[in-house]
Amino acid sequence: MDDSVSTDPIIQLSGISYSYPGESPVLKDLSFALHKGERIGLLAPNGSGKTTLFHVIMGLLAVSEGNIQIFGRNIESEKDFVWVRRKIGLLFQDADDQLFSPTVLDDVAFGPLNMGKSKKEALFISRKVLSFLGLSSFEERITFKLSGGEKKLVSLATILSMEPEVLLLDEPLNGLDNKTRIKLIGVLNSIDVSCVVISHDIDFLLDCTDTIYTLRDGGIEKDTTVYVHSHDHAHMLGHVPHQHE
Ligand SMILES: Nc1ncnc2c1ncn2[C@@H]1O[C@H](COP(=O)(O)OP(=O)(O)OP(=O)(O)O)[C@@H](O)[C@H]1O
Ligand SMILES: [Mg+2]
Repeated sequence: MDDSVSTDPIIQLSGISYSYPGESPVLKDLSFALHKGERIGLLAPNGSGKTTLFHVIMGLLAVSEGNIQIFGRNIESEKDFVWVRRKIGLLFQDADDQLFSPTVLDDVAFGPLNMGKSKKEALFISRKVLSFLGLSSFEERITFKLSGGEKKLVSLATILSMEPEVLLLDEPLNGLDNKTRIKLIGVLNSIDVSCVVISHDIDFLLDCTDTIYTLRDGGIEKDTTVYVHSHDHAHMLGHVPHQHE
């Protein structure tokens, strides 16, 4: 594999098809490109293939047809995908698929150690990322005892510690309370990465991505039905004058 990389587009999928064994195709002749600096939101119904698409990009599922190029390289073998996984950070839909080490610090340091950093460097990066996410006090917490929302944030830390150039975030809001949601939007908007974000929450996607795509009949297309609008909302003490953050 040539070591030179082209920067544009970062991810290019051409004519991708994928079927789970014995099932009809989930992705059908799908083509998609993510360019440097782009932030794409992906909003599509349950079961439409969003998670499948991310797993195909990361090589966790092997396509039956089509071509994958990442940073201009043709990606075919498992060795190619090992390289991809150093460049692209995938936040799994289910945090339990992401976390496996006994403590939070071990989990966050695993990626950098695996990429060849020294223990000292890995711990330095991990502490920096945990601090950036406001999770410094979590270092020694037992990973499997964290709450769902805490696991989601720690999962994000395990990805950011690998200093990826691209983020694929599969429902990052899952389990997050409103304050943490606002924090996550701040974090995403303050880091300089290209990303694709899956969410069913259109307001969240409008806050942290530039373009919204949808999946339809196994293909991907720009969602032209999305438009910004105001709406009535309800919550406790709504009759008292207040401001939304
Ligand atoms: N391991 C599997 N074996 C067989 N079918 C699967 C498997 N995983 C997913 N599917 C099917 O593939 C389709 C797409 O699933 P996928 O998880 O990609 O959807 P999604 O768009 O991410 O949905 P959600 O919004 O619920 O997360 C669904 O019909 C699902 O039932
Ligand atoms: Mg999914």
